[in-house]
Amino acid sequence: MHWPFCLSKCPYCDFNSHVRHAAVDEERFARAFTREIETTAARAPGREVTSIFLGGGTPSLMQPRTVGRILDAIGQHWHVAPDVEVTLEANPTSVEATRFRGYRAAGVNRVSLGVQALDDASLKMLGRLHSAREALDAVAIARSAFDRYSFDLIYARPDQTPEMWAGELQHAISEAAEHLSLYQLTIEEGTPFFGLHAAGKLKTPDEAVARALYDITQEICGKHGLPAYEISNHARPGAECQHNLVYWRGEEYAGIGPGAHGRLDSDGLRHATATEKRPEGWLMRVEASGHGVVTDDILNSEERADEYLLMGLRLNEGIDPARYRTLSGRALDPGRIATLTEEGAITIDASGRLRVTQSGFPVLDAVVADLAA
Ligand SMILES: C[S@@+](CC[C@H](N)C(=O)[O-])C[C@H]1O[C@@H](n2cnc3c(N)ncnc32)[C@H](O)[C@@H]1O
Ligand code: SF4
Repeated sequence: MHWPFCLSKCPYCDFNSHVRHAAVDEERFARAFTREIETTAARAPGREVTSIFLGGGTPSLMQPRTVGRILDAIGQHWHVAPDVEVTLEANPTSVEATRFRGYRAAGVNRVSLGVQALDDASLKMLGRLHSAREALDAVAIARSAFDRYSFDLIYARPDQTPEMWAGELQHAISEAAEHLSLYQLTIEEGTPFFGLHAAGKLKTPDEAVARALYDITQEICGKHGLPAYEISNHARPGAECQHNLVYWRGEEYAGIGPGAHGRLDSDGLRHATATEKRPEGWLMRVEASGHGVVTDDILNSEERADEYLLMGLRLNEGIDPARYRTLSGRALDPGRIATLTEEGAITIDASGRLRVTQSGFPVLDAVVADLAA
């Protein structure tokens, strides 16, 4: 479920997020979400919902009542597993933290907080509206309201040294419970950071420093019982985000709300769906026809197999080469597997799964491109 609004646009972010100076008509959006859920459930009936992710944008700008209506609609139109994981993405400001108990009462059982950095100078550089103190207070409120919470940090920031990051990460781990998302700053085209970077006014760590930052991340998290289960996600074993595993394992998911992507099967075919990105455009489409879907493509076998590689190799558990063969109709090239194994980028484990190694992860894109070729 994508909630597309934010209080301000962060200069590094290219998510589908929009700032509105007039109040958002939540009542009207809640009705549209309910309607799109009903339409999507009619095209994908009989499924069991095992996880729900309210992402954004900034879902923590929603009133708990709106979240409750969305979750109730899901429960009315699909069967929801008794142990369903329901995550809400929240910005760590004091205002938003006051809603946490309301979200829990509405059915949310996990929050993911966008802390991003633990020092005020970095937060300012990232264009964030909260201080480090405010973020840590929000983490404490999350801890008291939910059994499960996670937070995000962005590293490989301008001027960040491995020593500075090691200290910050250790601090973060002392505040974390079972899960942390640690993203390297990516310079996304079309963002203000992209222009600054191109003009030489924003310098990100060079390759060697970025590699050192990555290695320290793995070492410190591993030592504290939070190994990476995905290239940027760390959890205590058993505390992985079930929802994200659905994407990376190539399972089915429904995408609802403005700019949401879905993968739904029908008659043995996999459909890749995407909805209208502009919030008001999506609203009008849903009100007129019950859904905001603007793209509905059937993936051919090669596309399905490539997606399985691209997503699955992000995971520590890797991929099953036999499933790749079933999807694509051809086996992965044994010659390429042998070369990448020799180079130490991949390994085939005892159960036959193909996994990227610790030294392969920093060059994951090249590994995927090589195997998919
Ligand atoms: C949709 S946002 C998070 C939700 C919430 N709006 C927030 O900012 O706290 C998901 C996460 O992606 C990460 N992210 C977004 N843009 C990024 C970039 N250019 N490089 C690295 N991480 C990024 C941030 O850590 C962010 O918390
Ligand atoms: S990082 Fe979060 S708050 Fe900032 S613009 Fe992106 S979605 Fe909105």
